[in-house]
Amino acid sequence: MNDVLKRIGNAGLVPVVVIDDAELAVPAAKALIDGGLEIMEVTMRTDQGLKAIVKVKEAYPQMLLGAGTVLSIENAREALDAGAEFIVSPGLNPDLIEWCQGQKIAVTPGAVTPTEIQQALKFNLTVLKFFPGNIFGGIKGCEALYNPYRMVKFIPTGGVSLNNLEDYASKPYIHAIGGSWLCSSADINQKNFDQITRIVKESIDKLLGFELADQGNSTKSEKGSLPAAEIISGSFGFNLKRGNPVDYAETAGTIAIKTNNVDRAVYYIEKKGNKLGWSIKLENNAEKTVIYLEGDAGDLSVHLFQG
Ligand code: 3PG
Repeated sequence: MNDVLKRIGNAGLVPVVVIDDAELAVPAAKALIDGGLEIMEVTMRTDQGLKAIVKVKEAYPQMLLGAGTVLSIENAREALDAGAEFIVSPGLNPDLIEWCQGQKIAVTPGAVTPTEIQQALKFNLTVLKFFPGNIFGGIKGCEALYNPYRMVKFIPTGGVSLNNLEDYASKPYIHAIGGSWLCSSADINQKNFDQITRIVKESIDKLLGFELADQGNSTKSEKGSLPAAEIISGSFGFNLKRGNPVDYAETAGTIAIKTNNVDRAVYYIEKKGNKLGWSIKLENNAEKTVIYLEGDAGDLSVHLFQG
């Protein structure tokens, strides 16, 4: 899979951003980055969109920038010139797809019917926008289409919010989830940047769905328990609860943490994990993907699994 599409899938969330004033695009991008997202789809719905792409790219070169609502080759050319790295179009336009492929820029056209999916497959496109997702059956619509088209993954957008994001988060045929709830134009225009950061953090928590699934013995010593608890709560967003250590087992303990998607969890843990000096060892078994986190988590061994 194309590297840009992989990065979209790892981030798992795509903020669809409508910019009314290009000056506000940079603080909006900062709010997303502060929340943990380095991806932004700037729509071409306003005349500020192209300027916004230029400004954000300059301020935050690490930001993966896409152009949304691209309806024509002309739109796509302008977006590419401005610095966009992927093109999103609400519908399927074969001329636009052909042009993007000629320019080697990733494109995710909208497709919500079997006929449209087959058209996309003719171009070897397997990551497709599913828009407007809420009108075309939401997760049920995606699942029904995935049944015959197992090679396809969707990016549903339209009507996604903090309330229904979890419907999509664990499904293997969902490449990423997009929408304006992550960085609404109302919040941008009212300069509610802290609110954007808060929503992004909460959305990432829901996307990853970390849950303590199993806990083995405690650590060998009191000295081992606090650093382990700090590392685990810091990495997975659990609250750190101090208490009186009671039991110290003779053997090192194990903690199993469930997540909606191991690949995305690795992506987000590596962002924090590097700071913690963890290394990730992947082990695939027949039923599920398990990841062991190796490093200084006190005496504890921690593994993640997709469930
Ligand atoms: C899009 O272009 O993907 C949609 O406008 C996003 O829809 P939403 O505003 O309902 O998230």
